[in-house]
Amino acid sequence: MEKVLVVYWTGTGNTEMMAEKIAEGLVLEGLDVTLRQVDEIDVDEALTYEKIAFGCPSMGLEILEEDEFEPFFEEIENQLDSRKIALFGSYGWGDGEWMDAWIERVQDLNLNLFEPGLKINSTPSPEEEEDCLQFGREFAKY
Ligand SMILES: Cc1cc2nc3c(=O)[nH]c(=O)nc-3n(C[C@H](O)[C@H](O)[C@H](O)COP(=O)(O)O)c2cc1C
Repeated sequence: MEKVLVVYWTGTGNTEMMAEKIAEGLVLEGLDVTLRQVDEIDVDEALTYEKIAFGCPSMGLEILEEDEFEPFFEEIENQLDSRKIALFGSYGWGDGEWMDAWIERVQDLNLNLFEPGLKINSTPSPEEEEDCLQFGREFAKY
C-alpha cells in the first residue's frame, strides 16, 4: 500500500480541517495515510514518505508560520528529491499571495509539485471541504 504523509501547522483549526479532508480523500483512494501536526514529526521521519502534502496558513505578511512550520520546511525542502508533494492552507484576506510565493519556491527547487496548491479563505464551507476531499483523491493518483 502506498504511504503518504499529511503534515500541517494550524493556529485556529482551518488548515487542520483541510488536512483532515485531504487525508480522507487519500484514504478513499486506498493510500496508507499518516496525518501529523508539524511538531509531531521530525524531518528524518517525514523523509521516509515518498508522497507528502504540506499544509500551512498564510501568516506574518503573506508568509509561512515562522516558529515551527518555516524551520521544518526550510530543513526538508532541499532533501525532497523526487518525492511527490502537494501544498495547501487557509488564508484570511486578499488573494492568498503566500501560496503563490510557496509554489514559486518549490518550483525553483524543481520539485514534483501536484499543481496548483489548494488555498481556502478562512474556514472551509461544506462545499470547500468537498474540494479538499477531491484534492486528496487527485493527489493520491499523482
Ligand atoms: C499572525 C497572523 C498573521 C496573518 N497574516 C495573514 C496574511 O498575511 N494574509 C492572509 O491572507 N491571512 C493572514 N492571516 C489569517 C490566517 O491565514 C487565517 O485566519 C487562516 O484561516 C488561519 O488558518 P488556521 O486556522 O489553520 O490557523 C493571519 C493570521 C494571523 C493570526
